[in-house]
Amino acid sequence: MIGGGGREHALVRTIAASPLVTALFCAPGNAGIANDAELVDMAADDVAGLVAWARTNAVDLVVPGPEAALVAGVVDAMEGAGIACIGPNAAAARLEASKSLMKEIADAAGVPTASWRRFEDAGEARAWIAVCGAPVVIKADGLTGGKGVTVAFTEAEALRAVDEALAERVFGDAGSSVVIEEFLDGEEASYHVLVDGTSILPLATAQDHKRVGDGDTGPNTGGMGCYSPAPVVTPEIEARILDDIIRPTIAAMSRLGTPFRGVLYAGLMITSEGPRLLEYNVRFGDPECQVLLARLEDDLVPALLATRDGTLDGVHLTWREESALTVVMATRGYPGTYPQATPIRRLDDAAGDDGVILHAGTAREGGGWVSAGGRVLGVTACGACLAEARDRAYRIVDRIDWADGFCRRDIGLRGLSHRG
Ligand code: AMP
Ligand code: GLY
Repeated sequence: MIGGGGREHALVRTIAASPLVTALFCAPGNAGIANDAELVDMAADDVAGLVAWARTNAVDLVVPGPEAALVAGVVDAMEGAGIACIGPNAAAARLEASKSLMKEIADAAGVPTASWRRFEDAGEARAWIAVCGAPVVIKADGLTGGKGVTVAFTEAEALRAVDEALAERVFGDAGSSVVIEEFLDGEEASYHVLVDGTSILPLATAQDHKRVGDGDTGPNTGGMGCYSPAPVVTPEIEARILDDIIRPTIAAMSRLGTPFRGVLYAGLMITSEGPRLLEYNVRFGDPECQVLLARLEDDLVPALLATRDGTLDGVHLTWREESALTVVMATRGYPGTYPQATPIRRLDDAAGDDGVILHAGTAREGGGWVSAGGRVLGVTACGACLAEARDRAYRIVDRIDWADGFCRRDIGLRGLSHRG
């Protein structure tokens, strides 16, 4: 396993439970993952180092978690060395790495998405904002760990975002061009599929909470909590997502000579006119992965192997009818600056029978746990209904003694509002 966040902890737990697995290593992992896999001290995007290590240790299968490894070409390098590796190659990973390329492919495939323009020149971008007005969305073209998107409700905010990216270069080269796109109104959903180049296996639906504050306020984060299934994705909406968005994209990727293999995660806006594509990610969402795997009944490993081998057609995965909900606990200050190594107490027995606590950024210090990052813990619980999963997850959260930590208190409330 490559990566060291909550998503990777969830995948490590799931993969370790497979009868096909005899040994499991995680690079770089984190102190919590160390309970479930042997850690390898190597960065997720150190492609050459990872390949050499995998070779020396006779690894049979590599599962990259984060986009950084995929965009850096870990699949190309591992497969080139004769080691099976699940995910898109670097060319196909550009679907996430370049917002403008994603939009070009969506347009070519007739996929419904916000209208857009790409700019490299700040003056031209500013002039365009004067034409289209607010609300409008400004996106750094490259990878920014979720921080390069501004949903601007005033022209002043939009101009500020353009200047930050194009003039001040706060995102470095990732912001040397921006995509300015139409604002879409609706409710967001995360939709994941496995793809083997041609065949598509839909996974369960989820909804993430991207803003840092209750009531969807404050800046965007990597995700502060989520739940599955997402009631906004009705069977009818799901059919449109597959027919109008996912299938045409996969066909276009093959036509372009960059067939997609791996986990494809569509970020969607469910508008009054139907689903619209916001973005593609070429990996599991985090925290979405935590709720999806909590509901998965079958062994994931054969499905991952089929994704890589082009034999996904006919593979079926069963999902528990239950709801799952994850609350992310983060260090105060996230997604801005925050302190490191703050003590977390009563962590080991906080979950009880209510659920699981997965580690996204923890370390050991003096026999106890301390924080080691922005998003630090993912607290996941299941229940017969969303309300029950939610109650259980917050019960666990309330048992954890972490003065420097915080979480949103409204995870799942949007989902509950669907059930009249
Ligand atoms: P992205 O990384 O492209 O998914 O953007 C991050 C977040 O910005 C999304 O999860 C949405 O909340 C918001 N967003 C992105 N594009 C749009 C859009 N065209 N209209 C409204 N909100 C958007
Ligand atoms: N939860 C959003 C992401 O993984 O990108």
